[in-house]
Amino acid sequence: MTDFKLACQLADVPEVGAVGVVVDGVPVAVVRSDDEVHAIHDVCSHAEVALSEGEVDDGEIECWLHGSRFDLASGRPTGLPATEPVPVYPVKIDGDAVLVDVHHPLNNVRSYD
Ligand code: FES
Repeated sequence: MTDFKLACQLADVPEVGAVGVVVDGVPVAVVRSDDEVHAIHDVCSHAEVALSEGEVDDGEIECWLHGSRFDLASGRPTGLPATEPVPVYPVKIDGDAVLVDVHHPLNNVRSYD
């Protein structure tokens, strides 16, 4: 069972970058990288700052505060100081709409909120 909800419009997401949204009360960074759209929990697992404000590069998003990078497919940190993964969520594109299911994380990691 899925629970996709409207997150934003495709036009709201930079060609390479992220936008922060809230879906069902859950902060989500909708991220585009290499022509793919991902949804990752919008709170760094090291401290409570928004990942959507970080740089996106090569399938990863970098936390702006201390520089940990997170893989957009797995949610795993690829560099310190963060050691815990963040939830990543299923995404569906329906025309211009970006839909995200925040209730069924792909990596079985629950949000910290
Ligand atoms: S708050 Fe994100 S790496 Fe420290």
